[in-house]
Amino acid sequence: MKVLFVCLGNICRSPTAEAVFDKLVAEHGLTDVLEVDSAGTNGFHIGQSPDPRSVKCAAKRGIDLTPLRGRQIERADFERFDYVIAMDDENVRQLSALCPESQHGKFSLLLSYADRCNYREVPDPYYGGTREFELVLDLIESGCRGLLDHLLRDDLMPVADRLQGQWRV
Ligand code: 4NP
Repeated sequence: MKVLFVCLGNICRSPTAEAVFDKLVAEHGLTDVLEVDSAGTNGFHIGQSPDPRSVKCAAKRGIDLTPLRGRQIERADFERFDYVIAMDDENVRQLSALCPESQHGKFSLLLSYADRCNYREVPDPYYGGTREFELVLDLIESGCRGLLDHLLRDDLMPVADRLQGQWRV
């Protein structure tokens, strides 16, 4: 199962989601069955490290963003990934324009998986401050927990059965 997180620049929200989800996946012993990556809809930050404000915010919660580098989504990603998870509606619009309609069913908003969440989108924090970056992390953590629950219920049940219950969120 392959999951791709997408935002605009791939230096704030989607690398954060990648690292948060990757950590959850590892904690549940699912590294061998769930592949995680992230990409941006634009190419302004290709090859760049995540935004230092995201790095700092994530580090406070024990999440390391420093190995990640920005990349732009490419057509092959729509074939390669089972789930393409966007941060906001504009990301979904951009994604929809890039690939055939037959692949649109793979798109969803991260916060559609979050439990009791007042936000529909993970807001772009780029022009914000610490408060905005902290909010992004709170929302991403909530969305990622819900996403793992969803995958375990709908797609990974046979694997989870084999792991004899160690996977429970
Ligand atoms: P991200 O945030 O989409 O969460 O990575 C942004 C990063 C860069 C820009 C905008 C949003 N930018 O305009 O360069």
